[in-house]
Amino acid sequence: RFFFKYRRPDKRSLKIIIEVGDWMERVVTGEELEDDGVVDNTIRPEVLDEYIGQSEVKENIRVFIEASKIRGEVLDHVLLYGPPGLGKTTLAFIIARELGVNIKTASGPSIEKSGDLAAILSTLEPGDVLFIDEIHRMPRYIEEILYPAMEDFTLDIIIGGEGSSRSIKIDLPPFTLVGATTRAGDLSAPLRDRFGIISKLKFYTTEELTEIIKRTSRVLDMPIDDEAAVELAKRSRGTPRIANRLFKRVRDFALVDKKESIDLEVMEKALERLKVGKSGLDETDHQLLRAIIERFNGGPVGIDALASSIGEETSTIEDVIEPYLLQEGYLKRTSRGRMVTEKAYKELNINYQGGLFGVDLDV
Ligand code: ADE
Repeated sequence: RFFFKYRRPDKRSLKIIIEVGDWMERVVTGEELEDDGVVDNTIRPEVLDEYIGQSEVKENIRVFIEASKIRGEVLDHVLLYGPPGLGKTTLAFIIARELGVNIKTASGPSIEKSGDLAAILSTLEPGDVLFIDEIHRMPRYIEEILYPAMEDFTLDIIIGGEGSSRSIKIDLPPFTLVGATTRAGDLSAPLRDRFGIISKLKFYTTEELTEIIKRTSRVLDMPIDDEAAVELAKRSRGTPRIANRLFKRVRDFALVDKKESIDLEVMEKALERLKVGKSGLDETDHQLLRAIIERFNGGPVGIDALASSIGEETSTIEDVIEPYLLQEGYLKRTSRGRMVTEKAYKELNINYQGGLFGVDLDV
């Protein structure tokens, strides 16, 4: 009789006991082991159970995956949208893993010619996930190739030159398209309508980020005190990518200071050096708020004027910088442009003389 430990694809471990007799071997049990501490070995979660936060999105996707498996059909196409760094790519990889299929990846801007997309589509195997990041940046005429591919799993290609060209249909294996975008509004309506599952990812709460930070600390084998983890979570702009990046930098400070774990002291020191404020806003956030206050009298200011005054792209302000500032109430969108709120003055320690004209420009 002997046993061995078997790690299932979902990373749970089973203790398999085998009895070896004169004439046969037989498996006696396959009992599930307690969490053996080797479950978390990458910063990116690989299965749904390891994915922290976004609970509604996660639980819905779990049901849709299960249902597609029961029906024996491919999962409907999925569109994930929301600000950068919230785990859209991670979720796409998890979906493929949970479905037990391969994932092929591409990004909107890298698909320049119809041939590029046709080449990717023709490598798909039945049930595969095709992940297209920044799908809103795909040229419109390429989107049109996707329509029949998504709807009927066919590829319409045109062969021949001028005058003698004809269109032929090629069958594709059934597949699931997972598209990610920072703005669902930028997708054409026909493309958006072809996704059966549309999920919006939200900023994470401090509690969720604390959990993610503790997980990262285990994976990277660098302990962190509870209070330091909470502090880091509060200062990560609701974004796991930022939390993990800051964790790695704080870990550097701790290492050089010869600390065996990250405590509040080294955390404060590191975040100060990294110019991450108490509220978690970073230098670019401050630059944007300060520009509105100092150059545009608090606003309202049009997005293009604001972008050129701080030297950022309009789309960077819209997709990356302002969603968090809007959610946290530092900034307001009005019909005449962006305005800061009293909270922004406080954040920057600038005296607020608010409501001078008593006009509320909010619409
Ligand atoms: N790392 C990055 N995003 C994560 C998430 N949502 N859950 C767990 N770990 C993560």
